[in-house]
Amino acid sequence: EKGGFKHFMQKEIFEQPLAVSNTLLDRLPLDGGGVPLGLAFTDEELRSFQRITILACGTSRHAGLVGQFYLEQLARIGVEVDYGSEYRYRDPVVMADTLAIGITQSGETADTLAAMKEAAARGARGMAICNVQGSTAARLAEATLLTHAGPEIGVASTKAFTTQLVVLLLLALRLGEARGTLDPAVRAEIIQALRELPALLERVASTERKIHQWAQKWHEATDFLYLGRGPLYPIALEGALKLKELSYIHAEGYPAGEMKHGPIALIDRHLPIVAVMPRDAHREKVLSNLQEAAARDGRILALVEEGDTGLDHIAEDVLHLPKVNPWLAPILYVVPLQLLSYHIAVIRGCDVDQPRNLAKSVTVE
Ligand code: F6R
Repeated sequence: EKGGFKHFMQKEIFEQPLAVSNTLLDRLPLDGGGVPLGLAFTDEELRSFQRITILACGTSRHAGLVGQFYLEQLARIGVEVDYGSEYRYRDPVVMADTLAIGITQSGETADTLAAMKEAAARGARGMAICNVQGSTAARLAEATLLTHAGPEIGVASTKAFTTQLVVLLLLALRLGEARGTLDPAVRAEIIQALRELPALLERVASTERKIHQWAQKWHEATDFLYLGRGPLYPIALEGALKLKELSYIHAEGYPAGEMKHGPIALIDRHLPIVAVMPRDAHREKVLSNLQEAAARDGRILALVEEGDTGLDHIAEDVLHLPKVNPWLAPILYVVPLQLLSYHIAVIRGCDVDQPRNLAKSVTVE
């Protein structure tokens, strides 16, 4: 049942190229057409939305934070992202023409469902992004976009997360088309990059050996700091969450620019700092944030693009990832972070498929 892998989580990490290609199947446009998402909303409705509210918990919320970049930049709609467990308790202001999107792998997370109901009761239109057809979230929403990741058994979410990012990007393209906000050249580049994504994910999976060496070297650290900027900032949050839940090591994720407003006080030679720095518009800023960290003896482990030597002198360990369109970097760069948490947890003797105190779907509030 684990197909030759030691754990479901490991199997599911390696299934990501397939999960992504299944999620893209029949959803990339043919010549001249639009992105065929089969949404239950008309183009007129898609044009009418003035605001998007994303509601989710945990890893699914991190997907929502990347989605915020996609939707704001490609469809030019203001997006807020909230915790399922917080939204309904702040007497939320729901403006006319709000689209509320619940993101939930299981479709059964009580807090997310309650938030989706709250938004609907206040007049928002509802959409669900979920991995389980017929789940409560899918039945609650007017429109559902399924991630075709296949069953996710490991408690830690991996392939559901990467397929959520794919669906959010497709949705941003579809909304951008309907609203006329998409630069045709950008659109064409993203679609081409999506076609190549499964093959790139295969290549990234082969970094496992090197990540395993990192895990052997770093598994005794007691704290980790994860840093990224722009759409990689949620990937820093996700890397830290994965490490916490699997290995029980304390970890924090931060937007790299926020480091100087507090966490920098933590930095010393005992603190590994995991940096995600693709070659994107934020690279120079991240580089200077990391120079600050290195000047305070922080020990840097970095994920960068092939050929990028910018961190060679300050990072202790560097992993090179294939060149990727910046829009897709979050989907690629999260994979080595999943593998790092997995291998650190295995070395520490943790139960990776069933971490203590956690359940696969949290159906209580
Ligand atoms: C982390 C993890 C959780 C879930 C969260 C929401 O690896 O799996 O943080 O992401 O409980 O679950 P869903 O997406 O089913 O609503």
